[in-house]
Amino acid sequence: MIFDRNEKKQVVALLGAGSMGTAIVRRIGAGKKILLGDISEETLKRVGEDFRRCGYDVETMQVNALQKGSVEAFAKKAAELGPVMYFIDTAGASPNQASPEHIVNLDMVGTGYAVDAFGKVMAEGGAGLLISSQAAYMYAIPNDIELQLVNTPTEELKNVKFIQEVAMKDSGLAYMIAKRMNHLQAQRAAATTWRHRRARINSISPGIIVTPLAYDEFNANGEGYQRMIDASAACRTGTSDEIAEAAAFLLGEHAKFITGTDLLIDGGVIASIRTGEFKLWQ
Ligand SMILES: NC(=O)c1ccc[n+]([C@@H]2O[C@H](COP(=O)([O-])OP(=O)(O)OC[C@H]3O[C@@H](n4cnc5c(N)ncnc54)[C@H](O)[C@@H]3O)[C@@H](O)[C@H]2O)c1
Repeated sequence: MIFDRNEKKQVVALLGAGSMGTAIVRRIGAGKKILLGDISEETLKRVGEDFRRCGYDVETMQVNALQKGSVEAFAKKAAELGPVMYFIDTAGASPNQASPEHIVNLDMVGTGYAVDAFGKVMAEGGAGLLISSQAAYMYAIPNDIELQLVNTPTEELKNVKFIQEVAMKDSGLAYMIAKRMNHLQAQRAAATTWRHRRARINSISPGIIVTPLAYDEFNANGEGYQRMIDASAACRTGTSDEIAEAAAFLLGEHAKFITGTDLLIDGGVIASIRTGEFKLWQ
């Protein structure tokens, strides 16, 4: 049986076919051509099959977000499939999964490669979304250094003295800095490359969302995460579907006036920290 006879479809490209990314694509991908990219062939096979069996039109491609050429090939493939209206980047590793260098390379430089590559193929009226983290709000990069970082080409980010001397020292710091950089990367693209294509780009900073990545964090620092959950207004963890709901809004037609901004979705953790109700470092 042929489920879908439409040949000209808008393209949704997802880099990082994990929990949050697939929840977002499920929410917005009906009737569109979906391109899933991930480093794991096993993930692509499983997720691709799952989507197909649920009626979505899906292609998959192995991509390594650490390699500029691989990310560029992914963007090229997306553009060959049709007008690229949506790009979502969720490829990332968390502090307890990786070394500082890997986090800088993946969560910061890799995201930069993706923003740059899709900045060359997005269709007019298209929208992008980077998945940052509440961790971006836990460490303040000095203003002059932020200005320097936001104006540094992606390939050179790693050579910036601050990245070498601060981010490379510790996985937690690397993660906070890389995720704050995602906000700046969205801002720079919104003001320059993506703007010139009349496309929008924003980020979402999730709090603690129960996914395989989060389980790795709980296993390494369960007590710290429990304190955070208990101190939050929501008093619970979040779900990928709650992130997908907000992502659909930011990517959709009711958010046409929103670009270059970040939406923090953390159940109130950062509010507790910023008001001194909760001490992150004890
Ligand atoms: N889960 C949370 O609590 C939480 C909170 C805040 C932010 N985040 C961020 O959200 C994003 C998505 O996380 P998730 O919880 O859905 O995790 P996940 O592990 O389910 O998804 C991440 C995906 O990225 C892929 N990936 C890893 N390295 C890659 C590479 N080099 N190239 C291509 N793909 C690669 C993985 O194979 C995986 O499918 C991450 O950037 C993470 O840092 C997660």
